[in-house]
Amino acid sequence: MTEHATEYAKIAETKDIPDGEVKVYDLNGAAIALCHVGDKFYAVQDLCTHDGGPLGEGELVGSQIECPRHGARFDVKTGKAMCLPAVIDIPTYEVEVRGGEIFVK
Ligand code: FES
Repeated sequence: MTEHATEYAKIAETKDIPDGEVKVYDLNGAAIALCHVGDKFYAVQDLCTHDGGPLGEGELVGSQIECPRHGARFDVKTGKAMCLPAVIDIPTYEVEVRGGEIFVK
């Protein structure tokens, strides 16, 4: 294991995810929901903190993703739980776009 926890891994290309859509990728065994919001991409845990719902199958409304299971919403920019039934925020991951390729830390 390297000390450089700052490494980014390429997981997708910008053309793979149309604006307003979400796709799920595997990052070292963790499921990451990659969200395209306007001219930016955000990566969040693909697991709802309420009851483990698959967030990546939910709908992206602006910068919020809605859990398909019971409708909790999270801000994908911050991971913040925005409405019940979720009260715990979701982890977010740093994203870098380089020449049409998307890297997640
Ligand atoms: S599992 Fe996501 S709102 Fe219940």
